[in-house]
Amino acid sequence: MRKIIITIDGFSSCGKSTLARQLAKELNYVFIDSGAMYRAITLYFLRSHIDWYDRDAVVQALKEIDLDFRYNDQTGVSDMYLNEENVEQLIRDMLVSESVSEVSTIKEVREFAVAQQQKLGKRKGIVMDGRDIGTTVFPQAELKIFVTADPAVRVERRFKELFEKNPNITIEEVKTNLEMRDYIDSNREVSPLRKADDAIVLDNSGVTRDEQLRTALKWATDKIQDAQ
Ligand code: DC
Repeated sequence: MRKIIITIDGFSSCGKSTLARQLAKELNYVFIDSGAMYRAITLYFLRSHIDWYDRDAVVQALKEIDLDFRYNDQTGVSDMYLNEENVEQLIRDMLVSESVSEVSTIKEVREFAVAQQQKLGKRKGIVMDGRDIGTTVFPQAELKIFVTADPAVRVERRFKELFEKNPNITIEEVKTNLEMRDYIDSNREVSPLRKADDAIVLDNSGVTRDEQLRTALKWATDKIQDAQ
């Protein structure tokens, strides 16, 4: 059976990764969280005190970065590795969340990440989530989904997720961070967050994870049939 590429884009904390992960599992496809790559690059820059507005420093730093996804038997999904270190948990930290959108505006950073993402999609059979996957990384993807949700619902979901790891976090911090990231992601010069013209919109505000999965799965199986 011929495999396809599925892209899932949208604003921060819309549940893109959850949907992408579930969809990949159902279809026996590979799930790739492109945001994890930008987060790992940001972590490297923060740790190495790289001034990301200094182009030469960025170009040099990118040469020192090796990104890899490695399958984790326990979780059933891949973890992000930065220079052989598992950084899957560290990259979800608020410190990284506060800088990742800024780092993601840099042209050289995007070229570096996009080249690796395209390589990962060479053999198709992938579900990749992010901001520019349907517009820039795989404009030829067979199925493009653009996920949206009510901002208040997104803040609530993200807060619950972060509160489990850090009970000191406040809902205001989460709201400010989401608003800031949405703004930077949508207004940057290089491949801003946009719905691809041929993407299908999925608003999951009042929808359960199961319902959302069933809808997306139907779209995917139809597209897979068309591809035969
Ligand atoms: O999906 P996420 O929230 O983990 O992504 C973190 C940041 O990475 C997001 O605020 C913008 C950036 N990003 C991007 O610019 N392009 C992508 N394809 C994925 C993420």
